[in-house]
Amino acid sequence: MMRMILGAALLALAATAHAQGELKGDPERAKQKISMCAGCHGISGYKTAFPQVYSVPRLGGQHAAYIVKALQEYKSGNRSHPSMRAIAASLSNKDMADLAAYYASDTMKSAAK
Ligand code: HEC
Repeated sequence: MMRMILGAALLALAATAHAQGELKGDPERAKQKISMCAGCHGISGYKTAFPQVYSVPRLGGQHAAYIVKALQEYKSGNRSHPSMRAIAASLSNKDMADLAAYYASDTMKSAAK
C-alpha cells in the first residue's frame, strides 16, 4: 500500500516537472556544482548547526523529480530552510536538473548507505 502511495506521489511530481518544461539533467555537468552541496550532503549523518541543529537529508538515490521539486520549493519559499533557500536561489532550472540527475544516478545509489 505504501508503495502505491509513493508511486502515485512520484508520478504527480513527474507530471509537475513535465508541465514546467522538461529539462534533461546532465550528471557530468553537475560535477562542477556538487562541491556546493557536498559540504553538507556528502557526509552521512551530518548535522548543520545553523540556524538550529538540522539533520541533513541524504540525496544520493533519491528520485530526480523529487530533488528538482524540493529545490524549486526552497527557491520559491514553499520550503523554508534558510541555508537551502539561499543555495536554491542561486540555481537555475538547468542546474537543478543536472544536480538531480547526478544524485539520482546509479553510482550515487550504490554509494549511498
Ligand atoms: C549548509 C548546508 C547545506 C548545503 C551547502 C546544501 N544543503 Fe541541501 N539541505 C540542507 C539541510 C539542513 C536540508 C534539510 C532542510 C529542511 O529541513 O528543509 C537540506 C535539504 C535539501 C533537499 C531536500 C531533501 C529532502 O529529502 O527533502 C535537497 C533536494 C537539497 N538539500 C539539495 C541540495 C543541493 C543540490 C545542494 C547544492 C547545490 C545543497 N542541498 C546544499 C543543508 C545543505
